[in-house]
Amino acid sequence: MNWRTNRSFFSNPVLPLAEILGAPPRPVGKAMTVADLLTSIKNIEPFPTVATRVLQLSGQPDLVPNDLMDVVRADPGIMSKVLKLANSSFYGCQRRIETLTDAGNLLGVKTIVSLVTSSCASSRMKDKGGGGQLWERCLTNAVAARIVAQIHEKIDPERAFTAGLLQDIGELVADSQEDGERIAIGAIVASGRTELEAEKEVLGLTHAEIGARLTSRWGLPEALVDTIRHHHAPEGATRDPILACTTHVAETIVAPLLGERPAYAVSDTALELLEVSRAQIEGLGDWLTEELDKAREALEG
Ligand SMILES: [Fe+2]
Repeated sequence: MNWRTNRSFFSNPVLPLAEILGAPPRPVGKAMTVADLLTSIKNIEPFPTVATRVLQLSGQPDLVPNDLMDVVRADPGIMSKVLKLANSSFYGCQRRIETLTDAGNLLGVKTIVSLVTSSCASSRMKDKGGGGQLWERCLTNAVAARIVAQIHEKIDPERAFTAGLLQDIGELVADSQEDGERIAIGAIVASGRTELEAEKEVLGLTHAEIGARLTSRWGLPEALVDTIRHHHAPEGATRDPILACTTHVAETIVAPLLGERPAYAVSDTALELLEVSRAQIEGLGDWLTEELDKAREALEG
């Protein structure tokens, strides 16, 4: 749990990420500055190489599945996870997939990108950011974004899944800050202000901006970085506004499922652009729960 609900986050001992990653701790008693936060970003371990390369390749127009599989084959651990995921009910392929070539041909480029990103991210994030709670949030965002994309049919649902998985990655840095900052943020949220206001006040940046800077540093595609940066206020997105609006709407349906107050109101502009109604969005809870169960089984079983 993190400061959004202020429930068990502070009672669970969470090892600061900087400590996990071997980064030097900030001197005790020194106030947090944006410069400190940017240093934290620099010290975060890079995203797994296979996922980074696959995401970089995903922006190329002439990409074929085998290009991605050549990257996956370089990592036997990821290769076996990809095959397991490809055969899960979450990806719903009708026939048994035995080889990576089959997986590529049957599932296609966008599904392979989402599958590789989720298998790498689950390995990296499950034990970080609040003892697995950040991973739970990222997975729920991803499944919700996939469902929103399935409703509006304006982008590939697997692209939405990938963006949803990473939209709150900035919390990896935010959660790694010292107890003083986390308690200050929790107190502001408990006083009735939003999580985003609290992050801005205490850290100087919200997790959206932090996530954008982190993923930009990792060399992820610009459209993805722009989506992460603007997922709370998608009117500012310039690279792929539909993708940004999809992740924006997704996060608003995730909050009630996680027992949290929404961090922001859903944007009318986003609903108009996606051509979906509030009623459609508000009625997605059962579908989300069902798909989330399948995703958890596939990724965590
Ligand atoms: Fe967010």
